[in-house]
Amino acid sequence: MASTTPTKAARAGELPAAEDSRREFEFSDADFRHLSKLAYDHAGIVLAEGKRNLVYGRLSRRLRTLNLETFRQYRDFLEANEREVQSFINSISTNHTKLFRESHHFDHLRANVAIPFAQAGRSKSGSRMRVWSAGCSSGEEPYTIAMVLKHDIPDIARHDVKILATDIDTDIVAKAVAGEFATSAMDEVPRQYREYFRNKDGEPKGQTVVVNQDVRSLITFRKLNLLGEWPFKGLFDAIFCRNVMIYFDGPTKTRLVERFTQQVRPGGFLYIGHSESLIGGHPGLSLVGRTIYRREA
Ligand SMILES: C[S@@+](CC[C@H](N)C(=O)[O-])C[C@H]1O[C@@H](n2cnc3c(N)ncnc32)[C@H](O)[C@@H]1O
Repeated sequence: MASTTPTKAARAGELPAAEDSRREFEFSDADFRHLSKLAYDHAGIVLAEGKRNLVYGRLSRRLRTLNLETFRQYRDFLEANEREVQSFINSISTNHTKLFRESHHFDHLRANVAIPFAQAGRSKSGSRMRVWSAGCSSGEEPYTIAMVLKHDIPDIARHDVKILATDIDTDIVAKAVAGEFATSAMDEVPRQYREYFRNKDGEPKGQTVVVNQDVRSLITFRKLNLLGEWPFKGLFDAIFCRNVMIYFDGPTKTRLVERFTQQVRPGGFLYIGHSESLIGGHPGLSLVGRTIYRREA
């Protein structure tokens, strides 16, 4: 099931190519090329020719908000207002996600990270674990990780367990922080984890659920562009970067995987999306499951 929020495409009402002439705003080839280059240079996101309507649709709302009449004017606005680049990226990023997406990754996380940690940490407090959800979108991925860890590490509060969740899209990070989901999203959540949600105060039951504070407190949300500097001091026990690299080209993906390899501890795991399997050699990583890689010790 898709994310319960309407997609940006649905909100923006993207037009099929045949309906170009009905467009509200003038949108030239040069405009498309310029905006594609900006997305690539800033975020590594490749917007090939087939994404023209997507770009038009997603940015039309922005033009309306800014009272602009053409994409040429929007380009000028971008040039004059550096801060608009963030709104541009927020508009064009694709945030589709769901709770327990690709659930085999969480079975692996339980068996290979959470349970061994719980067993090793039983007698001593303060044991450290770090997990990174890189490209976390509206939070379904890090909240799933948090629930899995909490469930299998009963005394988690005694330990130093933290999940870092980052995304380039500041609007979606703000949404993630709220930790609210449509009740229908519970269909994806196995029964044993449903106790980590409660009905949102002041709303009729069955509308919105909120993730409980003890689960939320395991996660820190931040804005981070994966192409930029990573301000981390230590290494991660596991990194999730799923359904993010599909928007990047080969060289960007290769470089990113090299950086993830350096950022995960020896013996730790890198989880990537179902359509992103790493072709060719990636020194230091071994494939240990479906789209699961382990950093060699
Ligand atoms: C399709 S969502 C994936 C969400 C989640 N990981 C999952 O698999 O369900 C892709 C996310 O990657 C983010 N993203 C795209 N380019 C990025 C970049 N350069 N740095 C950080 N995040 C980026 C987008 O904003 C979007 O929220």
